[in-house]
Amino acid sequence: MNWTRENLKQLIVDKMNGSLLVVASNREPYIHNSGAEGISCIVPASGLTMALDPVLQACGGVWVAHGSGDADREVVDEKNRVMVPPDDPKYTLRRLWLNKTEETGYYYGFSNETLWPLCHIVYNKPKFEEADWLHYKSVNEKFAKTILDEVGDQKAFVFIQDYHLTLVPKLLREANPNIKTALFWHIPWPNPEAFRINPWKEEILQGMLGADLLGFHIQYHVDNFLNTVDQTLEVRVDKIGSSVVAGGRETLVRPFPISIDYEQISRIAASVETEKVMARLRKEFGVKSQLIGVGTDRLDYTKGIPERMIAVDKFLEKYPEYIGKFTFVQAGVLSRIHIQRYKDLNDEINSLVERINWKYATDHWKPIVLVRRHFSPQELIALYRLADLAVVSSLHDGMNLVAKEFVAAAEAGKGVLLLSRFTGAARELTESLLINPYAPDAFGEAIRAALAMSPDEKNKRLQKMKELVAENNIYKWAGKIIQALLRLS
Ligand code: G6P
Repeated sequence: MNWTRENLKQLIVDKMNGSLLVVASNREPYIHNSGAEGISCIVPASGLTMALDPVLQACGGVWVAHGSGDADREVVDEKNRVMVPPDDPKYTLRRLWLNKTEETGYYYGFSNETLWPLCHIVYNKPKFEEADWLHYKSVNEKFAKTILDEVGDQKAFVFIQDYHLTLVPKLLREANPNIKTALFWHIPWPNPEAFRINPWKEEILQGMLGADLLGFHIQYHVDNFLNTVDQTLEVRVDKIGSSVVAGGRETLVRPFPISIDYEQISRIAASVETEKVMARLRKEFGVKSQLIGVGTDRLDYTKGIPERMIAVDKFLEKYPEYIGKFTFVQAGVLSRIHIQRYKDLNDEINSLVERINWKYATDHWKPIVLVRRHFSPQELIALYRLADLAVVSSLHDGMNLVAKEFVAAAEAGKGVLLLSRFTGAARELTESLLINPYAPDAFGEAIRAALAMSPDEKNKRLQKMKELVAENNIYKWAGKIIQALLRLS
């Protein structure tokens, strides 16, 4: 079956018998900010929200999330709801508010200084602060209350997202056992040895096991999760049936590789509007060289951004004939900036770019253009379209949807994807040039291999990946999760 927006919607209409669909995540899909020209609305740099927004647009429902924009309160109604997307409303965004102390403990602290480094094996030590944990618990309760308020006495399917909300499934089950819940884990799940240092591991696992269905990107994360549960809790783990039975209820644990709205991205990529944006971006970046490499990331230490700068250095050192002819554009959105490790990463990137540009720059050219600002989805597509190569060099990543977005948007016969072996996407996008970001010389060679590849070979590789992503799109991901839940009821 070919999954589309329409048949996902049909599945919901036919099979969910009028159940309300509620999505819950920390990050909201639309953020309202005030600026010199009044209130504007942006789409955040989050693979999670980019992936789920088309699903909600197709199916309708309510999305519960933290209202983090400085003008968010100004646009909601008395129940803290606003219809989105703003220019073509399709579903309800219900915002909940956090004060600075809650945000510091729950979001910056436990979510991003404890669970994030614990699950991404990139040699950054997680921090375990009791005060953060307590805020995390109370904010999870706040999310559960808001969800229950939205559900009321309706039949509902609640789809919880990510590591910020591990305690919500159990809280919902205790309050209303009729709600069907799924939790999707958007980041890697580490091996039990890595997870066992977490002082609150039992409560987190019990919280998650309150869900009827737990989803991870790949089988390896499912196996790691089942092994972690097996070694931590006194419950029945069925590794063959891939489920856990705790307190008389079963939780299915399955891989569902997340994806993108391929059809929409490829349509926008081929539009006249995109051509105009491409010309504008070239001008903004001052890029005149014939060959362009592109990286687009949140500035996060898991993304391997310094590693890719060093690879550019290695490449130019070994192949000086590309000096003046190749420019690497790094589009980076500042992220989680109140955490010291993220500030340090910024400084590290700045000084690397400065050093490498100083080493190779000529009067009218520099090898690396670093643009630190927010990019709209349309601009990102234009950027992929400009690229002769795109680099996704994460040191460890759940999926990495940037890789799939590039495949959908890139021009056949032109764009080549360099993809870290340590991403979930590497399991599917095997026609990319797979790299090890920890090996700078080989990484530099891969840049050269991409640029030297024949248009025919580029075309063949990209077409195969385009077909794969077109088939395994975001609607298939959502459809498979909903089908799995329906089988349970
Ligand atoms: C990752 C996480 C998401 C998160 C995104 C952006 O993709 O899995 O949950 O939304 O990063 O990070 P942020 O902290 O800005 O939401």
